[in-house]
Amino acid sequence: MTDPLHRTVDRFRGEPPGTIGVVGAGTMGRGIAEVLIRHGYTAFLYDSSTASLRVGMESIARAIARGVEKGRLTSEERETALARLQPTSELAALIGADLVIEAVTEQFDIKATVLREIERHCRPDVVLATNTSAISITRLAAVTRRPELVVGIHFFNPVPIMKLVEIVPGLQTDPEVVETARRLVVSLGKTPVRVSDHPGFVSNRLLMPMINEAIYCLMEGVADAQAVDTVMKLGMNHPMGPLELADLIGLDVCLDIMRALFDGFKDSKYRPCPLLERMVSAGWLGRKTGRGFYEYPAASPNDKS
Ligand SMILES: NC(=O)c1ccc[n+]([C@@H]2O[C@H](COP(=O)([O-])OP(=O)(O)OC[C@H]3O[C@@H](n4cnc5c(N)ncnc54)[C@H](O)[C@@H]3O)[C@@H](O)[C@H]2O)c1
Repeated sequence: MTDPLHRTVDRFRGEPPGTIGVVGAGTMGRGIAEVLIRHGYTAFLYDSSTASLRVGMESIARAIARGVEKGRLTSEERETALARLQPTSELAALIGADLVIEAVTEQFDIKATVLREIERHCRPDVVLATNTSAISITRLAAVTRRPELVVGIHFFNPVPIMKLVEIVPGLQTDPEVVETARRLVVSLGKTPVRVSDHPGFVSNRLLMPMINEAIYCLMEGVADAQAVDTVMKLGMNHPMGPLELADLIGLDVCLDIMRALFDGFKDSKYRPCPLLERMVSAGWLGRKTGRGFYEYPAASPNDKS
């Protein structure tokens, strides 16, 4: 195997683990970077917002310190893990990465620009993974020069806790790249589930319409937020109610996903609830801004500057 693609794939088969770039230091990017360094990977964390990068780095350091307090890792392991993490405001710093995971805002145009930029700054054989929740992998891959190296690796929030990762090949993704993604996910102690490239994959095709419907219940006065959540927790045994979960995910992310489902299926059953649209317009994005369906006085917002 001598071509660049196979050299990349081979690197993942050997030890020590490779170097991974994470683009976007928001809710997901910081969680992904934390899990990577805890599992021995060297990670570069990039964000176009220096404030978001700083908040992301602080949150990773706090999470790893909590691990020491809870006896899950030693102080020495904490130092070693943090030494593997390199924050950067320059995409060019990702030149050594074998694989880059983009976790930027869930909008096609933003992701397309970011993927092209990553391609411009990284090695030609880099595997490009996207953490998109609902956008077509094939469509994202098509904006790059090497669609065969693009794959969906869809982590769940909070990344350090959630076991599931959806692996989503696009139409042109090389099977060896899919295998690379699968191995990476397994090496992080998570369970990969392969799904095909349809809007929202499996997870958000099921979850997001439920959350959207819960918001309609609230908007139409069927019940207040706590009652909606209590019904789903006590009646359906969900660990969190849909509105609490929407606050955790981020209402902007929920709206972007509903729009991707609506655009993807062209079916009115996926129309975003007007109350969700209004709350996002108001900047009530959930936990990250301190207010969503509930209030979070101690929130540390992802600064968007
Ligand atoms: N929040 C969730 O529960 C969740 C779960 C699974 C997947 N996702 C997906 O993960 C991705 C990120 O979501 P999030 O919740 O972390 O969003 P977020 O809003 O918390 O973070 C997005 C980050 O992207 C950065 N960004 C925006 N444009 C950029 C650019 N051009 N270059 C570099 N960085 C840029 C922002 O500064 C911000 O830090 C989305 O695709 C989302 O659908 C989210």
